[in-house]
Amino acid sequence: MTLNNVRVIHLPKILDRRGNLTFIEGNNHIPFEIKRTYWIYDVPGGEIRGGHAFKEQDELIVALSGSFDIVLDDGFEKKTYQLNRSYYGLYVPKGIWRQMENFSTNSLSMILASTAFNKEDYIFDYELFCKNKDQNGRS
Ligand code: TYD
Repeated sequence: MTLNNVRVIHLPKILDRRGNLTFIEGNNHIPFEIKRTYWIYDVPGGEIRGGHAFKEQDELIVALSGSFDIVLDDGFEKKTYQLNRSYYGLYVPKGIWRQMENFSTNSLSMILASTAFNKEDYIFDYELFCKNKDQNGRS
């Protein structure tokens, strides 16, 4: 995959004076079935999360609260997305190096994943990640 396969998904937003509501259905608002949900919270100022790619996992990252940056890299170019709205999700397909940083105080990031946790799915070696990528984003 390349950065061309990444996109910001505008999730449904039900405006209500009692408070707004947003929802996500797997295979409907996002192009995969949700196998796992996890969230990252209590991030101390200046900390960086991620710093790896996945071989198979597709994911959607949502800033449920606060803001943070996601730096994506397909081995050829890098792009930074800032997430700061709970009705936007960043779709990151498999095979993209990603890092999360600049977490605001009390930020809460939710990640919907297409796979169950599998440590074998992680790619931690950036040099190898780049070396194994061809111009079409195949690895
Ligand atoms: P990791 O994916 O490396 O966090 P991040 O990329 O956000 O910095 O996960 C951190 C630790 O948590 C690692 O030891 C694996 C464990 N973990 C699970 O056991 N299950 C999960 O679903 C996730 C995402 C992580």
